[in-house]
Amino acid sequence: MDKKLLIVGNWKMHLTVHQSSLLVHRLQERIATHRDVEVVLAPSMLALQPLSMEIDRRRFRLAAQNAYHKDEGAYTGEVSFAMLGDLVHYAIVGHSARRLYFGETLDIVRDKVQAAVRNDIVPIICIGETKQERDAGETKQVIHDQLTTALMNLTGKEIENIVLTYEPVWAITTFDGIVAKPRDVQEAIRFMRHQVEELYGERTANAVRVLYGGSVNEHDVRSYLELPEVDGVLVGAASLNYHQFSEIVKIAHQVQTEQN
Ligand code: PGA
Repeated sequence: MDKKLLIVGNWKMHLTVHQSSLLVHRLQERIATHRDVEVVLAPSMLALQPLSMEIDRRRFRLAAQNAYHKDEGAYTGEVSFAMLGDLVHYAIVGHSARRLYFGETLDIVRDKVQAAVRNDIVPIICIGETKQERDAGETKQVIHDQLTTALMNLTGKEIENIVLTYEPVWAITTFDGIVAKPRDVQEAIRFMRHQVEELYGERTANAVRVLYGGSVNEHDVRSYLELPEVDGVLVGAASLNYHQFSEIVKIAHQVQTEQN
C-alpha cells in the first residue's frame, strides 16, 4: 500500500494563541518535509486563523477539533464546517471527549461527518469503546455501531478519502491511559476495515486510511506504525511537546523508509 503515514497532533483545549504560534515555530525548526509522512496539527478553534497564516503548508496541514453540522443559522456559539473550509484540510469528528462530555450521539456524529464532506473537509472519525464496554465484551458491537452510523450517508468514493481512527477510550492519557497492545490495535483495525469492506467493497476498504490513537508517544509509536493495517497515529498529550512530537514524525519517516 503506497499511502503516506498520517501523524495528527490533537492539542485539545490547551495553549493560548500566542503559545500555539510558539509551538508551531518550534515544530517548524525541527520537522523536515517528508514526502512519505503528512503532519496535521489540530489547535484550538481560536488559533486556526493565525496559524493558517504562519504554517509552512508544505510541512503541515491544519485540522479543526470540532465544528457544528449546520452550515449557518441561529446557533449561538457554534462554528460551522462551512466557515472552516478555507482554514482547514481536516476535522476531527466524534472524539470520545465530544461523545462523553458533550453528549454527541451516533446521529450527531453522522451529521457532522456529512457536513465535513459536504464542505470539502476530510473528517478524521474517532471510533472506540470505553473500558466498561471492553470488559463487557462489547468492543466489536461498539465499533460496528459507531462506524456504520458515521458512514451512513456517504458513498464508497467519499469514504475512500476520509480517515478513520481506532481510539479506545481506555487508552487515552486523560481517561485510563492504559497502553494498548499492538495485537489488540491490529485486531480492532482489521475488524473496522472488514466492516467497510462488507458495506462498500474491497477497493474502499483498502483505500480508507485508518489511524490508531491513545497514549501514543515517541517510545511506543513504532510498535503501532509497523503494523501494516495502521496508516498513522492521532497523538494527544505528546503532541504538545515539540521534542516528543518531532521525534514521532521522525520515527514515522524511518518506518516508511524501512518498509519501502
Ligand atoms: P492521548 O490523546 O495521546 O493523550 O492519549 C489522544 C486523543 O485523545 O486524541
